Amino acid sequence: MAYQEKQAWWKESVIYQIYPRSFADSNGDGIGDLEGITTHLPYLKELGIDVIWLSPVYQSPNDDNGYDISDYRNIMKDFGTMEDFDRMLNRAHELGIRIVMDLVVNHTSDEHAWFVESRKSKDNPYRDYYIWKEPRDGKEPNNWGSCFSGSAWELDEQTGMYYLHCFSRKQPDLNWENEKVRSEVFDMMTWWCEKGIDGFRMDVISMISKDPAFPDGPDMDGIYGAPDPYVCNGPRVHEYLQEMNRKVLSRYDLLTVGEAAGVTIEEAKKYANADGTELNMVFQFEHVNAIHPSQCVVGKWTYQKPQMPDIRAILNKWQLELEGKAWNSLYWDNHDQPRAVSRFGDDSPEYRVLSAKMLASCLHMMKGTPYIYQGEELGMTNTHFSGVEDCRDIEAVNAYRQYVEDHKVVPKDIMLRCFDAISRDNARTPMQWNGSKNAGFTTGTPWISVNPNYREINAEAALADPDSVFYYYQKLIRLRHEIPVIVYGVFEPLLEDSPSIYAYRRILDNTVLTVACNWTSCSQPCDLFEDQNAGRELISNYDKHEEGYLLPFEARVFISER
Ligand code: GLC
Ligand code: CA
Repeated sequence: MAYQEKQAWWKESVIYQIYPRSFADSNGDGIGDLEGITTHLPYLKELGIDVIWLSPVYQSPNDDNGYDISDYRNIMKDFGTMEDFDRMLNRAHELGIRIVMDLVVNHTSDEHAWFVESRKSKDNPYRDYYIWKEPRDGKEPNNWGSCFSGSAWELDEQTGMYYLHCFSRKQPDLNWENEKVRSEVFDMMTWWCEKGIDGFRMDVISMISKDPAFPDGPDMDGIYGAPDPYVCNGPRVHEYLQEMNRKVLSRYDLLTVGEAAGVTIEEAKKYANADGTELNMVFQFEHVNAIHPSQCVVGKWTYQKPQMPDIRAILNKWQLELEGKAWNSLYWDNHDQPRAVSRFGDDSPEYRVLSAKMLASCLHMMKGTPYIYQGEELGMTNTHFSGVEDCRDIEAVNAYRQYVEDHKVVPKDIMLRCFDAISRDNARTPMQWNGSKNAGFTTGTPWISVNPNYREINAEAALADPDSVFYYYQKLIRLRHEIPVIVYGVFEPLLEDSPSIYAYRRILDNTVLTVACNWTSCSQPCDLFEDQNAGRELISNYDKHEEGYLLPFEARVFISER
């Protein structure tokens, strides 16, 4: 038998995530837009990706940059019109690129017509579209804190009741217990599928089913309780996704990936089960959260670097345990994470390119569908925040207000150090197209400052340099398209005790792929490629090697027949 599992296009694809606000501005208002994306589709074609995941482009008051939707069937004015969308979709399809939409249905904007109605009165027909509770002892119904600081409950004066918002107060949580909510969501999804889109990335989909008892949560930050155990992977989440699958997903040829905060391997086996009754795959968070809570200053905030052996232990576990049961997604970066090369590699001028390529090799040779976040293919880095006024992200701004200003539990310079390390704005600085003013992102004033290193790090420079990170990604993508073991080979860990080298094999029939990556800036002994049967080199970030060693941040991939 050639393959252990069913073949599928979404297993063979490489996805590229676009955060439209920061990608390319076509009209000089400082905000990226759909026309900007359409113009740069040939660049993505050149890179070789198969699918675009588009962060939300729907109508939104932008409290959380589009993750707060006020109309699911309209395009955000800043981004253009539905005609612009259709043009982008058609052009992408002509180039053989599929488009996956972000589906944000755990919550809407408080400006969505459903919520405008819902808050009007206790007997409004839309009241049950959201989660309303009576006060407890004159205060919030429980101790839950929101992911964006403050309570997860907001008192609405009109009726004297609280509504739940796991994110900002402008993102009220939908009540999925209500059948009407589910059917509205499914209708809306069908509407987009009929338009010809190619799938959905489902925002915090693991949070749609809440524990009906709404119990207090364990301490989150010394101020609020964490809702996670009672909102993530809740009692009816699989039932809801199976219903969604029956009524919508199974009727189209889609890629579906669930953003699954708090997901365990056991849960992932259900969400992404090989029978296809729910989703194709999920994003898990363990490897990007590979920091012990004791290393955090408060809540998620830290400036410590995660260690490779911890990351490896997590990723190897996911590789091994999902084998044959569910499909993995592979990522270092997205719009909620700092830049991979700064977080996991070394963004100094000496090692930036080498370590970006090493990280790419390490991830792209694993089993699962790889995701590239805009600018990752250039080795874009974190930026620097000299004060809260440099921040745009509601998560960072609110955390600063709560911990530095209101409760004074974190000194300002420590908080800013955390922002430099992990603020989401690191990923949201404009895409660096060229060395001209504002990196060629806009002719106006960008909505968030450009990273000052754009004169050296930009797409134009990368395209002119055969040794660039860009061409390395291009080659990794091409190899995945050409060599079945990279997609379907079974994963086998190697050197699991090495403190510095991440190594593994992939095996498909008689073909063996051997991957070794040095995560440090020192040469490390490694004899994996010395033996006669090691095969031939497929890709490496060095032209010359040193026998018996991996050079600083060296990555090597060999293929052999046995
Ligand atoms: C997801 C998104 C993030 C957003 C949040 C609320 O985690 O990726 O950007 O802020 O959900 O929608
Ligand atoms: Ca614009």
